[in-house]
Amino acid sequence: MLIKILDKLLHKDHLIGRYYVKAPAEQRKKLLRLRARFHKRDLLARREEAARIADSAFTEIPDDLGFKVLSDCSFPEIPDMLDQALEVVRTRDLEKIRKNKKAQLMTGLLKPHELSLDSPFIRFLLRKEVVAAVSNYLGCIPVVAKVDLWYSRYSSGEAENSQLFHCDYESGRQLKVFIFAKDVELEDGPFTVISAKRSDDLRRALRYRYGDKIPDSLVEPVVPGEEQVVVTGPRATVLFGDTSRCFHYGSRVRDPKRWRLAVLYQFLRPQSFLMSLDYKRTAPFSFLAHKEMPLYQKMLLGASF
Ligand SMILES: [Fe+2]
Repeated sequence: MLIKILDKLLHKDHLIGRYYVKAPAEQRKKLLRLRARFHKRDLLARREEAARIADSAFTEIPDDLGFKVLSDCSFPEIPDMLDQALEVVRTRDLEKIRKNKKAQLMTGLLKPHELSLDSPFIRFLLRKEVVAAVSNYLGCIPVVAKVDLWYSRYSSGEAENSQLFHCDYESGRQLKVFIFAKDVELEDGPFTVISAKRSDDLRRALRYRYGDKIPDSLVEPVVPGEEQVVVTGPRATVLFGDTSRCFHYGSRVRDPKRWRLAVLYQFLRPQSFLMSLDYKRTAPFSFLAHKEMPLYQKMLLGASF
């Protein structure tokens, strides 16, 4: 009960949260540190397990960049996963099953209860090579907060919300992993990102408050177009992006006939603003965990045992 009240007060739109979450980076760090103290023993165990599996990582996400693009990731479950993703688009009424309301981006297209340990989406997620790569960047074994499909499409009118540069408010550091289900070209509204280091400069120059969306005209004088990385690539390209440290935008699809589809994973540390203080009770994929699994998998799923 007390935890529920605390969660509410810390929510981004409520009393304490409003002051510390949609705020400049320094202000947010104070609450993140406090939240980390709440999870002290859990975080210690997560750091130790991350160190134990660190050498298994299949790639390294450089800290000064905060993102990484791979075009040669050949895990055998990827083709199956991407075929299943395209099948959802072909066979389901996306407008009906989506969870959000944005005109240019439909999310919530993959339903957690339809996933099992045999699913290629989950086989990729639970790979030691993948968990280690993500954990090495985040400094501990994180919790998987989303396994989803994101469908971007043309929208008329001026660029708005996630089509404008912003940093995601959910944490100070997080990873989203996108796997392209089909080729992404310039017309498909590719994800566009500014390195973590240059994003720091931009945050300082703009006195950026998390939650704000920034028009290109204010970004350009500090970080010109040639320093903005546009992530195009063939089907099966894997993109790791720290969307809290790095300014980014996406879904500026230029042509009504074009669309983009990506598998999306989100990894958050337990202290992240988006997580309940009692996250093990609410972790959306903990139902997949079982006692005999390796510890890193149980931790990733947010299991309580
Ligand atoms: Fe974002």
